[in-house]
Amino acid sequence: MKNLIKRLTETFGPSGSEGPIRETIRKEVEPFVDEIKVDALGNLICFKKGSGGKKVLLDAHMDEIGLMVTHIDENGFLRFGSIGGVNPAVSLGQRVYFENGTFGVIGCERIEDPKDLRLNKLYIDIGAGSREEASKKVRVGDSAAFFQPAIGLGNRMVAKAMDDRIGCVVIIEALKGLGATNHDIYAVFATQEEVGLRGARVAAFGINPDVGIAFDVTGTGDTPKSSTMDVSLGKGAAIKVKDSSLICHPGLRDYLVKLAEEKGISYQMEVLERGGTDSGAIQMARAGIPAGVISIPSRYIHSPSEMVDIGDVEACVKLCVAACESPLEF
Ligand code: CO
Ligand code: ZN
Repeated sequence: MKNLIKRLTETFGPSGSEGPIRETIRKEVEPFVDEIKVDALGNLICFKKGSGGKKVLLDAHMDEIGLMVTHIDENGFLRFGSIGGVNPAVSLGQRVYFENGTFGVIGCERIEDPKDLRLNKLYIDIGAGSREEASKKVRVGDSAAFFQPAIGLGNRMVAKAMDDRIGCVVIIEALKGLGATNHDIYAVFATQEEVGLRGARVAAFGINPDVGIAFDVTGTGDTPKSSTMDVSLGKGAAIKVKDSSLICHPGLRDYLVKLAEEKGISYQMEVLERGGTDSGAIQMARAGIPAGVISIPSRYIHSPSEMVDIGDVEACVKLCVAACESPLEF
């Protein structure tokens, strides 16, 4: 599984430029599903046929946060805007790369006060000496992702784009472990979550599932002087109660808790005070879909070094398999 995490997190795919990550995931899931299609927004929808059960949507977003070039100045420096929530403090000094393999580093204008550190003070230096030279490699509107190799730290891993390639890993591993199921399973690797849950919204409309479960990272409250949050790394799958995009279906939430207890899967309850997930869009699709979230606890979310615990990831995989194999009556 660690190799799969490395492959997925190291693949390029900011929101709207999910081509490379979509192809990587397609290769991984192909042997385990019956049908694969790509919709107009670029969602990868993988169907595993059941035998007359419910329609179950499993969602993880495959896009990652990134940067988009807005201007190339006469000396060849690139100005950029953010794709999703990019923090200037963790961006400074980072290396970034474009889909065509061009690399750059993030520099900053001279600022008097650290409080003035904002994205519009930063630029990307791709080593070009002029606008003309830079324009041969990069154009306005091109997207860049952080460049960081994935590393293991004991039973933990650190990588860029753990949000939400780790959710993609959970679904892929669950599909591998899943035998014939009663339910029709629609595994959706969604686009454009980081810019507003957009891929999941149309996928849920198209599939019209009976139940939707998203898999995404959530924050933790276990680092020095962090904000209070009752989720820790290493304490198991986080069953979401609420975030800023949804209040999870209480029946489904309690059902997942009961399932975790029955199967001896370690879990913790999650209330995320800031941030949303694809289930927020799934829940509001059509006339409303019962939706929940199984979250992977993660430190340093939206930085180029997001950390997860492998034990937690395994707990999420087990809970996903258990849910797919259960009657899902709640
Ligand atoms: Co995110
Ligand atoms: Zn996410």
